[in-house]
Amino acid sequence: MLKPTEKIWHNGRFIAWDDAKIHILSHVTSYGSSVFEGVRCYSTPAGPAIFRVREHLRRLHDSAKIYRIELKYSIDQLTEAMAELVRVNSMNSCYFRPLVLRGYGDVGVLPAQNPTETYIACWEWGKYLGEEALAEGVDVCVSSWTRIAPNTLPALAKAGANYMNSQLIRMEAAINGYAEGIALDSSGYVSEGSGENLFVVRDGKITTPPLGASVLPGITRDTIIQLAQSLNIPVAEALIPRESLYIADEAFFCGTAAEVTPIRSVDRIEIGKGKRGPITEKLQREFFAIVEGKVPDRFGWLTPVVQPVGAGR
Ligand SMILES: Cc1ncc(COP(=O)(O)O)c(C=O)c1O
Repeated sequence: MLKPTEKIWHNGRFIAWDDAKIHILSHVTSYGSSVFEGVRCYSTPAGPAIFRVREHLRRLHDSAKIYRIELKYSIDQLTEAMAELVRVNSMNSCYFRPLVLRGYGDVGVLPAQNPTETYIACWEWGKYLGEEALAEGVDVCVSSWTRIAPNTLPALAKAGANYMNSQLIRMEAAINGYAEGIALDSSGYVSEGSGENLFVVRDGKITTPPLGASVLPGITRDTIIQLAQSLNIPVAEALIPRESLYIADEAFFCGTAAEVTPIRSVDRIEIGKGKRGPITEKLQREFFAIVEGKVPDRFGWLTPVVQPVGAGR
């Protein structure tokens, strides 16, 4: 269950958690008109640090632009708001939800007179697919639901409405006893999980679907690509036929919530040896070492949250 924190940032000021309310007739409730982000702040030996915050906020701006939503706050302003939120809520680590939505005004589909409301909440959030999943891997299925097709809902935008498709995928998987579902794109190639990007490993090479396969341009996906390159693991963005999942040596999900989670079976077919494989483990270790500040941040991915003098004593 979600544990409330003290404050939520709204349009430039902090309000109480319980006061972060919208009118039921806000444009977003009927029409799904929101764009949002999910960002993690990790506890490091040097204090809390936000992971790839600028890349997440750039994607938020991109999502807003695609939907013609006017987002008044710059990446710098939103970064500062997130750091301040960590301080006012006294968090060591947290998950952030920056959320931009069309508010109360017109009730028709055309959002002519609907103000943009910008919120940032944060809370403590553990391992999305479970602690055990990180070591043991998860059992997943290919969904009977197709991922949003090109030129329908834009997949490069992280929009609330896209998650209606994600809900169908995730609920179907849960009902059938799987931890997650993998959606195929409208051509039948592998796309992504309901809330994660995906990589397969075969013969030492890792492959992830290209942006044209209706995937979200994941920040963790990009992180894995850069980590693989720096570790001299061959990496490619290429179309993945469904059956490549079954014959992969390894497969894993990645995302802000799921971090790096091995996949041990797909449709009850064991992947490789049916447990976390060596390349997944290597990338996973490197990922956690960086985000938890255990090795130098050689990519400049962490934004430290500067604490007031005397904090934490
Ligand atoms: C549908 C979907 N794909 C991929 C991802 C992974 O993206 P990121 O690594 O930026 O969190 C997410 C999570 O945000 C997602 O919801």
